[in-house]
Amino acid sequence: MELSEAMRSTGTCRYYTDEQVPDDVLRAAFDDARFGPQGGNRQPVRWIVVQDAEKKKRLAELYLPYWEGYYAMVVEGTKAVGAVPATVESANHFAHHLAEVPTLIVVCAEMDGIHPTDHELGRLSVVGGASIYPTVQNLTLALRQQGVASALTTLLCAEEPAVREMLSIPDGFITAALLAVGYPAKGFPRKLTRSPVEEIVFRDDFATPMYA
Ligand SMILES: Cc1cc2nc3c(=O)[nH]c(=O)nc-3n(C[C@H](O)[C@H](O)[C@H](O)COP(=O)(O)O)c2cc1C
Repeated sequence: MELSEAMRSTGTCRYYTDEQVPDDVLRAAFDDARFGPQGGNRQPVRWIVVQDAEKKKRLAELYLPYWEGYYAMVVEGTKAVGAVPATVESANHFAHHLAEVPTLIVVCAEMDGIHPTDHELGRLSVVGGASIYPTVQNLTLALRQQGVASALTTLLCAEEPAVREMLSIPDGFITAALLAVGYPAKGFPRKLTRSPVEEIVFRDDFATPMYA
C-alpha cells in the first residue's frame, strides 16, 4: 500500500468485526512503529496488548463515565439546534462496545525518557508527547497497511491510577493513550475530513498563506 493512501485512510474506526488480529500481524506493526523518532532516542514507549475479556471489560467500564460526561455535554449543546452529529453517535456506539473490540492496546511511556522543553512557559506543556505519539501514529499506519483498523483515544488516561494497578504498570511509567485495534466492520474511510493545505501552511510568518 502507498504511504500516502495509508495516511489518508487511517481514520478512527468505531465498528469492528469479532475477528482477532493475529499476533504476527501485531508484531509486524510493532516492529515498524518502533522506528518513530523520540527526543534523545530514549525510546520511552511501551505497549500493553490487552485481549483478556475481563480486563477489556474493566477498561471499558473505566472509560464509559468519561465518555458519558462528554456525550452529555454534546447532547445538551444540540438540544436547541438539532441532532447529535453522526461521528459523535458512532463514538457513543464505540464507547458502549469497547469491551468487544478484539484488541485494546494501552500505550505507556517512561517519564525519564520524555524531555519537555515547554514546561516553564505557563501554559499546557505538550512537547513530552512528541516522544510518544509519532510512534503511536506509526503503529496505526503499520496496522492500516495490513488491513487492520484502529482508534486512538485518550479519555481513559484520566483513570491512570486504576489502569496502573490493573495492568501492573510500574512507577516511572505513565499511560498516554488507549488504542482500539481490529478489523473494520464498515471498511476504511475514503476521505477523512481535514483542513485544506491552503488554510494551514504559512510562509515566513503566520499571516502569509504559503498556498493561496
Ligand atoms: C489525542 C486524541 C484523543 C482522542 N480521544 C478519543 C477518545 O477518547 N474517544 C474517541 O472516541 N475518540 C477519540 N479520538 C478520535 C477523534 O475523535 C478522531 O480522530 C476525530 O473525530 C477525527 O476522526 P477521524 O480520524 O476518523 O477523521 C481522539 C483522537 C486524538 C488524536
